[in-house]
Amino acid sequence: MKISRLISSDKHAAAALMAASDPWLKLGLGPAHCLKSLNVPFRETYVTKAAGKISGLVTITMYGTFKGYIQSLFVAEGFRGEGLGGKLLAFAEKKVLARSPNVFLCVSSFNTGALRFYRRLGYKKAGLLKDFVRKGSDEILLRKTTGPLL
Ligand SMILES: CC(C)(COP(=O)(O)OP(=O)(O)OC[C@H]1O[C@@H](n2cnc3c(N)ncnc32)[C@H](O)[C@@H]1OP(=O)(O)O)[C@@H](O)C(=O)NCCC(=O)NCCS
Repeated sequence: MKISRLISSDKHAAAALMAASDPWLKLGLGPAHCLKSLNVPFRETYVTKAAGKISGLVTITMYGTFKGYIQSLFVAEGFRGEGLGGKLLAFAEKKVLARSPNVFLCVSSFNTGALRFYRRLGYKKAGLLKDFVRKGSDEILLRKTTGPLL
């Protein structure tokens, strides 16, 4: 499975796919929000494609205090449960861990399938952001680490 950098002409399609799926749908984060998120400077988005269409993506931020933050991980419906999410995450982790000992990400408290997925892959709870995006929905901060910064 080839993983390549998201190109500008695919950004609208990527944003539309994310916005039509939970957790973004449930959080009320529409295509404009998702597009803005993909356009933030210093974020890197990588995608997989099937028959020319995006089947999955992962966005990494390598700057700031939480250097090595996975902003988004998404697999299109119809491609889930076949290991693609695990492959995209492993790809992102390799990039992060080459430059920093921590991988961070947030998962919505209602997203129990994704939480199970991350726990199985070695992520541990590092904090709880109460009512972070919407009232009534918390974000669980997860971290996978290979050791301290120094
Ligand atoms: C979570 C997600 C990235 C996993 O990718 P995937 O290719 O389906 O995952 P894999 O095949 O490598 O692993 C399967 C595991 O993913 C999780 N999973 C599967 N389908 C899921 C779904 N629709 N929503 C959430 N998690 C799912 C389950 O834990 C599953 O393990 P299980 O079979 O033991 O229940 C993918 O399902 C997805 O994009 N979901 C919607 C967006 C999302 O929740 N992203 C994470 C935001 S933090």
